[in-house]
Amino acid sequence: MNTNRLSKTLESALNDQMTKEAHAAQIYLSYAAWADSQGCGGIANFLFRHSGEERNHMMKILEYILKRGGQVKVTAIPAPSADPKTINNCFEKIFEHEVENTKAIYRVAKMSHDEEDWATWNFMQWFVKEQTEEETLAMSLLDKIKIAGGDHADAASLYSLDRDLEKAPDDAPMAQDATAENPI
Ligand code: FEO
Repeated sequence: MNTNRLSKTLESALNDQMTKEAHAAQIYLSYAAWADSQGCGGIANFLFRHSGEERNHMMKILEYILKRGGQVKVTAIPAPSADPKTINNCFEKIFEHEVENTKAIYRVAKMSHDEEDWATWNFMQWFVKEQTEEETLAMSLLDKIKIAGGDHADAASLYSLDRDLEKAPDDAPMAQDATAENPI
């Protein structure tokens, strides 16, 4: 009796996305180590924490495949891209990476919609929301470094940004949580 509730196509797409999340964890891990080596311990702390979040995303997909009776395939994770050149470049690369990941999430969500696999479609909505948050977070990093001077940020501005990010929350506020009394 076949108890796999995932189509072969979706099972494969979910496994691919699971590996992408593991890859994202490695990217944040490598950028965090790079930031620390540049003397930016606060930014490194922020990125290390985010690497953990990406591992959590990987686990959610792994669990989902198992719970739907599918087969998990753990494969090699591609190496992260080259180290950033500057903190500004680091935040740019993070934003670009998150946009690419959003596109990948949308592809899986669309596949589940096309197959009328509403369980997977529902599961993927968590990731759609998460990507909106992640893009907002990445945009806020770019805003901060822009104010600090971008590629030409001086040591004092970078020091202040570094301290700021050490305590920065991991999640960005969402537009749907805004009210007239509490705009975000
Ligand atoms: Fe799991 Fe940053 O996306």
